[in-house]
Amino acid sequence: MEAAMSEQSLSLPEAPVATPNTRKVFVKTYGCQMNVYDSERMTDALSKDGYEATEVLEEADLVLLNTCHIREKAAEKVYSELGRLRDMKKARARDGREMVIGVTGCVAQAEGKEILRRAPAVDLVIGPQTYHRLPEALRRAKGGERVVETDYAIEDKFEHLPAPEKAKTRARGVTAFLTVQEGCDKFCTFCVVPYTRGSEVSRPVAQIVAEAERLVEGGVREITLLGQNVNAWHGLGPDGTEWSLGDLLCRLAEIEGLARLRYTTSHPRDMDDRLVEAHRDLPKLMPYLHLPVQSGSDRILKAMNRRHTAAEYIALIERIRAVQPDLAISGDFIVGFPGETDEDFEDTMRLIEAVGYAQAFSFKYSIRPGTPGAEMGGHVDESVKSERLERLQALLFRQQREFAVGCIGKEIDLLLEKPGRMPGQLVGRSPWLQPVNVDAKGSEIGDIIRVRITDAGPNSLFAEAIG
Ligand code: 5AD
Ligand code: SF4
Repeated sequence: MEAAMSEQSLSLPEAPVATPNTRKVFVKTYGCQMNVYDSERMTDALSKDGYEATEVLEEADLVLLNTCHIREKAAEKVYSELGRLRDMKKARARDGREMVIGVTGCVAQAEGKEILRRAPAVDLVIGPQTYHRLPEALRRAKGGERVVETDYAIEDKFEHLPAPEKAKTRARGVTAFLTVQEGCDKFCTFCVVPYTRGSEVSRPVAQIVAEAERLVEGGVREITLLGQNVNAWHGLGPDGTEWSLGDLLCRLAEIEGLARLRYTTSHPRDMDDRLVEAHRDLPKLMPYLHLPVQSGSDRILKAMNRRHTAAEYIALIERIRAVQPDLAISGDFIVGFPGETDEDFEDTMRLIEAVGYAQAFSFKYSIRPGTPGAEMGGHVDESVKSERLERLQALLFRQQREFAVGCIGKEIDLLLEKPGRMPGQLVGRSPWLQPVNVDAKGSEIGDIIRVRITDAGPNSLFAEAIG
């Protein structure tokens, strides 16, 4: 019996194994980190069908635009890119080569069939909850069908999307995103997310832990948990109780080899005690919090349906800083929301002064069709929005600079992420997410080294290795 088995295992297969016909997919990602995560999962799903990712558009058989619909400009960019791709597809067709064009992400979800009408070169339109159907949709598109898949079924998506592959993870680097929650039930009146990403869904604890462990096995040392409303994440824990994000972070911090945890984006209303305590108790949880406030005027916050006041927001920041004094705060701001007066805007400036931001993103209000904000009266002139944005950004820039300069002389742990511009130089991120350049001979990407910050440039810090 044993002899027979070994004979069998030594024999050659009867037919040679077919080499899969490798095709190339080029994915262009717009918008937020969740799209970055989704783009990676899509390439993973397609690799099972023999598609290899490429960064060279010219060699791609399949081009996917993973789009963002958050502001008008972001959505319009997609159509101008599709114009360029149409010309390329035509030129290819003359050479007898095929090129399939797909639009995925939030523009796909929001506009669906309309994309096929406006951009005849598009073969596939796939909303963010249907990526797992991508390989099948692709087969249909190749059969000549113009496919539109925009059904909501977020749970399905996570059950069917492949987990990150170990080899691919390694190539992608030592930091990774992990979506734990998707969709939003908050309905801020300016925002399209509840319509494009659907209602809030949390992934189960076991699924998240398994994915995190896999990432760490693939060499990842820092994981950023993602969600449109990440701190609204909740799920049934293995102990049978309902877990919140703070509990999940505690569990993930137990993973050996994982050095750092972050999460984004949070809503002030969902910042519970457990999460605040996690900032006190978990050394692996980086002292950085992206907590958008949008406006400092109670009147505007109400009109935006943010469901908190400026004072409540400031009190919350003080509560977190009391347990983690090292915390860097980042925020999002919108200027020129309908009805915003000069006085409302001054309230926002006062809030920024009171909080002190290490980092911020600010935007002019952009009308999004279908949202309540679009129907409100009192739209603000573009010139006024521009003036306000300029003042607001000058203040935020000053604060960001002050924060960076304040880092000079500090000793920190630095996770080395990629090569720097000079030989021997590596770039990592500080605990507060700033890029840091360091001469780190003898160290490797993935190492965490002790450094002293020596200087602050406009977009990054400089440091020397110590110890
Ligand atoms: N106009 C301008 N900015 C917007 N954001 C979301 N919707 C709009 C809009 N209609 C901003 C918010 C949000 C960030 C992701 O984008 O500041 O926090
Ligand atoms: Fe949009 Fe508000 Fe939900 Fe954030 S919390 S995704 S701004 S609706």
